[in-house]
Amino acid sequence: MNKELKIFGVVAFFTLLLYWGVEPFAHSQMHKHVEGHGFTYDGTADIAEASAEKKEAKTAFWADVKKIAALEGDAVAGEATFGMCMGCHMDGAGNMGGVIPPSLDHAGAIYDKNYLIALIKDPAMASNVDHKYADTMMHPMGSIKTMVTEPQDIANVVAYLKANKSAEPTAKEAFSEACARCHAMRYDKATQLGDTPTFKYKKDELAHEIKVIEEQDAVKAYMGKLPPDLSMIIRARSHHFMETFVENPQSQLAGTSMPRVGLNEAGYEKVEEYLSDIGDPSKPAREIAGPWVIGFMILFTILAYLWKSSLWRDLH
Ligand code: HEC
Ligand code: HEC
Repeated sequence: MNKELKIFGVVAFFTLLLYWGVEPFAHSQMHKHVEGHGFTYDGTADIAEASAEKKEAKTAFWADVKKIAALEGDAVAGEATFGMCMGCHMDGAGNMGGVIPPSLDHAGAIYDKNYLIALIKDPAMASNVDHKYADTMMHPMGSIKTMVTEPQDIANVVAYLKANKSAEPTAKEAFSEACARCHAMRYDKATQLGDTPTFKYKKDELAHEIKVIEEQDAVKAYMGKLPPDLSMIIRARSHHFMETFVENPQSQLAGTSMPRVGLNEAGYEKVEEYLSDIGDPSKPAREIAGPWVIGFMILFTILAYLWKSSLWRDLH
């Protein structure tokens, strides 16, 4: 008995050493911890990680965003400015500098207010991909910088978005608006061109495939690589990784071309719900079954113990 206890002690010691000592140390060396910032966009992370010569410009940029955020926006006046946005963001728009401008149907609901202000002021700075451009006018939405220049106009159009484009989207709508221009979802039969229709004739299907390839080539030329299909990403990456990656891709993958998307918490939750519906459809069933399985195991253990005791009673 004494010997068995000693063996148990040694095994337990090394197991716990691995669990609390070696593994956390290895993890801290291989994956630096990325602090989330609760879907607030005030440039803190951007300024902290900026190179010395960019720090000043970024500090000034986010200070301006803060000033505009403090203005009282006039939603009615903002509607006229919003007409300019629709010049690019209309239904059925084609590829523009690399991607198809997303629908803004729920922009007020899924994007953070500060982020929207920053985006209209300078899209490349807002989404933290200014390192890709010598002049941020070259961003596909860059010309907005010359179209809407007055702080009050920016505040007005954002107030318009918040008042008129804030109906709650479905999980799929949130994904379509925020991610689908770059990321396909094979398991939901969706590509960068949206849902794949069903075709009666093979030649129509092939013609559609060619359009998809052309669109993907354009995205690839813009991003440097084709953004991965996200059908299974929800199983591959942790909740923390996904959240911090969407808030600021640079924090997890320095130098990546994926722009920050600027979702607020509710918007991100919708996107995650969609990724989970498609990538892990049996999750709800599993969660319901879990407690029953554990209950069954406990009951079975008790029965097995009682059975063993009754069998061995005569032998002891
Ligand atoms: C010159 C065309 C153009 C104009 C004008 C324009 N946009 Fe965009 N917008 C784009 C393109 C292209 C993208 C996609 C950029 C990308 O994915 O890199 C985009 C992306 C966006 C996004 C998604 C941003 C993100 O980070 O996911 C929002 C929100 C948006 N635009 C809002 C607006 C608003 C509001 C206006 C008007 C004040 C506006 N846009 C004007 C072309 C335009
Ligand atoms: C303008 C294009 C664009 C948009 C919009 C976009 N992404 Fe990406 N995304 C990329 C690119 C490019 C990569 C590849 C990054 C790399 O390898 O540097 C990527 C990579 C990823 C990855 C993989 C990271 C890894 O594990 O390697 C995840 C997860 C992701 N995106 C999630 C999202 C989500 C969620 C959204 C919408 C909220 C979104 N992306 C919107 C371009 C985009």
